[in-house]
Amino acid sequence: MRKTSQHGQWSSRLAFILAATGSAVGLGNIWKFPYITGENGGGAFVLVYLACIFAIGIPIMMAEIMLGRRGRQSPINTMRDLAREAAGSRFWSWLGWLGVIAGFLILSYYSVIAGWAMAYVVRVGSGVFDGVTSDGVSNIFGQFIADPEKLLAWHSLFMILTMLVVARGVKGLERTVKFLMPALLVILVLLVGYAMEQGSFQQGVSFLFKADFSKITSDGILTAMGHAFFTLSLGMGAIMVYGSYLPSKISIGSTTIIIALADTAVALLAGLAIFPIVFANGLEPGSGPGLIFQTLPIAFGHMAYGSIFGALFFVLLFFAAWSSSISLIEPAVAWLVENKKMSRMRACIWAGLVTWTVGIGTVLSFNIAADLTLFGKTFFDVLDYLTANIMLPLGGLCIAIFAGWVMNKETARQELSLKHAALFNTWLFLVKFVSPLAVLVVFLKAIEVI
Ligand code: PHE
Repeated sequence: MRKTSQHGQWSSRLAFILAATGSAVGLGNIWKFPYITGENGGGAFVLVYLACIFAIGIPIMMAEIMLGRRGRQSPINTMRDLAREAAGSRFWSWLGWLGVIAGFLILSYYSVIAGWAMAYVVRVGSGVFDGVTSDGVSNIFGQFIADPEKLLAWHSLFMILTMLVVARGVKGLERTVKFLMPALLVILVLLVGYAMEQGSFQQGVSFLFKADFSKITSDGILTAMGHAFFTLSLGMGAIMVYGSYLPSKISIGSTTIIIALADTAVALLAGLAIFPIVFANGLEPGSGPGLIFQTLPIAFGHMAYGSIFGALFFVLLFFAAWSSSISLIEPAVAWLVENKKMSRMRACIWAGLVTWTVGIGTVLSFNIAADLTLFGKTFFDVLDYLTANIMLPLGGLCIAIFAGWVMNKETARQELSLKHAALFNTWLFLVKFVSPLAVLVVFLKAIEVI
């Protein structure tokens, strides 16, 4: 097996942690987690989500990084070679393809929402929300998403920025995430402080942490599990390709735990900042994808220096989205460079163009094509459901099966090099039995076979 990837290598353990955390922490934590929690009734949903992070997410993340580091190529070629090494079927390279397609689809709508965040930097910063009421905030949001040209312009800008970083390769990624993550954390804590003072904090906390299982459906459980994959960037090769740039001596186990904890902390902080404001202003927690754009501006509109803090918050949200989006497209770009012998630049242009085009569908689904639905879902809803609830868990299931059943046990043991034998055995048990079974049961339950 190769010692390093042709695309380069992370300069240190910290660089990898920051990049992987940069990938994990994104719109999923701050935009998506609060609104799906709101739509699914709160506490019980959060509990299922946390259980999925620990029982399914962490072991699969270790497996995905391990496979990447062993293969040292794009996920498609990595899976092909690892399957060959383990004398498995060559169909395993399809897992890489599933990931590349999921990455395109996710980025196509991710970029549109990241565009909203960018637009809000300008809006909040210019004082539009000063002293605003909750109705005012909702109106401003409604008018904004009703305008396809604006959404398209921001989506295009975000795609260009993403491709610019990807074109510069591993080094470009490293430099960007180093400052962003700590800054994001600081401002989130500040917002939680605001929510504690001005919001219905108690009500927010009990909404988030008081589990009422009667409020959760099997589709809600699927959403919680899908979100565990989405938020940790699992099941589509993003973490695998980042693992392929990981130097051999770095421990996978402890790094994974750090990344998962950081990701979970950011999501919970975002919840603690948002729900108290929701309740204090009589807003609806289940109001969907617009939730943070309709709640946080209220906070910013009423606090001292709110326009500055607000602009800063949306800048950071944009940065968090940026450091995730690069990992969504990296598997495809790495494959184009390896197999089509393209330059990184050319590969970025092609991959970016395809994604941008699909993104137009999402732009229109919030306005002109809002009534064009399939099973009651708009184009955006369909993409979101298909990727987060189906493709990522399916990819994760296959990764667990490959690592647990197909790959040689000694190879896995060596590659993970966990300190204690008991830790390795626990991991193996989790990827062999617990994660695959859990994913399967949730799948079957959601399609009501069981
Ligand atoms: N984890 C990112 C987020 O929470 C999204 C993502 C999914 C990134 C899959 C890469 C791969 O926003």
